[in-house]
Parts: sequence; structure tokens; C-alpha cells
Amino acid sequence: MLEGKTVVLGIAGSIAAYKAADLASKLTQAGVGVEVVMTEAATRFITPLTLSSITGRPVVTGMWQPASEFSIEHVSLAEAADVVVIAPATADIIAKLASGIADDILTCTVLATRAPVIIAPAMNDNMYRNPVTQENLSRLKARGFVIIEPGYGRLASGKTGTGRLAEVDRIIDAIRQVLQRKSDLAGRQIVVTAGGTREPIDPVRYIGNRSSGKMGYALAGVARERGAKVTLVTAASLPSPAEVEVIAVETALQMKRAVTRAVKGADALIMAAAVADYRPEEVARAKIKKSSRLNLELVATPDILAEIEGGFIKVGFAAESEDVIANARKKLEAKGLDLIVANDITQKDSGFGADSNKVTIIDKNGKIEDLPLMTKREVADRVLDRVAGILGKR
Ligand code: CTP
Repeated sequence: MLEGKTVVLGIAGSIAAYKAADLASKLTQAGVGVEVVMTEAATRFITPLTLSSITGRPVVTGMWQPASEFSIEHVSLAEAADVVVIAPATADIIAKLASGIADDILTCTVLATRAPVIIAPAMNDNMYRNPVTQENLSRLKARGFVIIEPGYGRLASGKTGTGRLAEVDRIIDAIRQVLQRKSDLAGRQIVVTAGGTREPIDPVRYIGNRSSGKMGYALAGVARERGAKVTLVTAASLPSPAEVEVIAVETALQMKRAVTRAVKGADALIMAAAVADYRPEEVARAKIKKSSRLNLELVATPDILAEIEGGFIKVGFAAESEDVIANARKKLEAKGLDLIVANDITQKDSGFGADSNKVTIIDKNGKIEDLPLMTKREVADRVLDRVAGILGKR
């Protein structure tokens, strides 16, 4: 799996930089071509000579260093990479990557690469817990970066906390997993919907629901990583996954219009959105003034999934609070679906807003696949396994 691959190993300026030598050594022994890129700060902690002696290759430490064969061609490194790993990654590097800053050779390489990027943070526990660092990590995660959580233990400051670089073996496992990723959706076109639609009452208010959009965004991101061309029609406003066409909508009617356009030529439509079933018949032009009672006349919205037709695979979601399987089956039949992903929203750590989900996938032949609690990205992978399976048989 590792042999013959090219790993660009980015090292940032943390005391844990010395552990990168062990990582470089293990990777080199496994037959990996390790191209080391160090920030200026990293060279204060460990010498480039140590790393080049281990990898048998020149180490890139600056944009302008004339001795390096990559000094003006950092883009070629970005292109040669099967995977980029930053270990250790400091709060500073993480912040730069999250905002697209490319002011040194490492950040330039990451910005220029299309290869998957793995980040192994190492820093003081307060810096790690700081909301801005957490927010930056979430932004990177949403763009498909793989984050290897730091461990708990003694830190350089002498304190005990979370911030230690993950064990080298865990980092190698993550590299292996990323390299194993499938590209079974290459050449396929997939439309995903996400979020809860908002149906306006007046210029200020709307009828909405609790959908966060996370499941749909995970599906869009993972489908793209597996090679598909992805259009995400969304009523949520989460950070966009990399290389996905995003169409923002607000209402059920807008979503229907966008989906109808997007599915032309598509191989699959996955409706993870929570589409409002009703909308106010009239939208007040001015803000409705307070009175003792307000009657809203609601009319049904179109059922996008039931009405849309074409030769593509139709996947629905069913968020249920009772008789989960029976209700989901009814929807699968009524809407003419190939698959339905059912979840029990009353379960802890599942459903609205959570990062995890516990779902059951039911297909049109009645087969039931009951999955354990897993992250929404893992659920996305399992749903896409099924979509890829159906596409493969066509
Ligand atoms: N859906 C849709 N258009 C609607 C309502 C739902 O395309 N107007 C899709 C959802 O995106 C989801 C599936 O249909 O993939 C099931 O949605 P859900 O809200 O669970 O079911 P409903 O058909 O609305 O039934 P109910 O609200 O009565 O449970």
C-alpha cells in the first residue's frame, strides 16, 4: 500500500518536530518516497540534514534557497504528492491553511496540491482548545482535510493536557487509510441536497426546521473525494467542500428548480435536505405587526423526490421518530426510490446537528442494512458504497 508512493511531509515549528524524524524513517523503510518540506521555524528545532539523511532526498526549507532542486518548483512537489502530511502542525500553520495564506514553501505546497492532506496538530493545550484553533480545524475538516487529533499527556510546558502529537503509528495508519480511498465514482455525476428549507412568512420571519446540513455536506465532500463530479444544492450555509459546485437556495420551490436543472445527465440524486412540507400561501410584503392571534394559511410544497424523474438513482432520507423502518419503507415505495436512509431522530448522538448518525439503509428489494453509530462522513461513505454498487451493475 505504501510502497512506491510519494508522501510530502511538512514539518512546522513545534518542539514535536523531532518526532517527524521517526515518521520519515518509518515511511522511508516502508518504501515511501518522502519529500520533506520544513518551515523556517521547524529548522530551529531539527536540522534539515537529519531529515535528508533519513530520506536520502533533498529537504526543502525555503522558497528562495538556490541549492534545492525544488526551490522554484514547489508546485511540482505539490503535484508529485500522493498525500501531504503535516506533522507536527502548529496553530499558526493551521490558521494559515484555513484562510488560504501561502507565505512560505509549506503553505504554498498545500495550497497548490490536489492530493489529500493530513494534519497532525501539536501545540500547547490552551492554544489547541482556543475556539479560533478549533474553528480553523473545523474549516479544514469541512474541506476534506484529515485531522489526527493530538493526544493527552505531558506537554513541553510541563503541564499535562491535550496537545501532544499523535503517535507515529497512528499517523502512518491515517496515511494508509487515505491512500486506500476509493475512486470508484470517477466519471460519475452526483447531485446532493442539504439543509432545511426556509419558507418566508414576511421579510423577517420564516418557517424552518432543525436540519443542520452536515449529512448532505459530508455526502458531497466524500462523493467528490471518491472521484464524482458533485453539485450540492443547499439551504444551509456551512463551509463549502473542496471542488464541489454549490448552489445556494432558500425555499422548497427554489430547491426544486435547482435540483431539476442539476440532475440533467446525473447518475444519482441524493436528497439529504429536510424540505419543508408546507409554505405560507401568501408572503407578507411588510413585517407583520404583533396582535393577539395570527392565522397563517399554509399550502403544500412539491415533493421534489417523488416528482422528479430521469434515469438516475434516487436516494432519500427519512428522519423518523417512531416506526422508523416501516415509515421509511413506505417513503421508499411512494417516492420510487432505489435506497432510503432512515434514522431515528430520538436517539442520542444521532440526527439533527450531530456530527454522528445511526442509520439503516433500506433498498428497493427490501434488504435492510443496519449500521452502528458512526460519523456522518462514515455514513456518507457507506451510502456511496451502495450507490457505487448499483451504478456498477448498470
Ligand atoms: N422530500 C422532498 N420534497 C419534499 C419533502 C421531502 O424531496 N417536499 C424528500 C426529502 O429530502 C427526503 C425524503 O423526501 O429525502 C423524505 O423526507 P421526509 O421529510 O422524511 O418525508 P415526507 O415525505 O415529508 O413525509 P413526512 O414529513 O410525513 O414524514
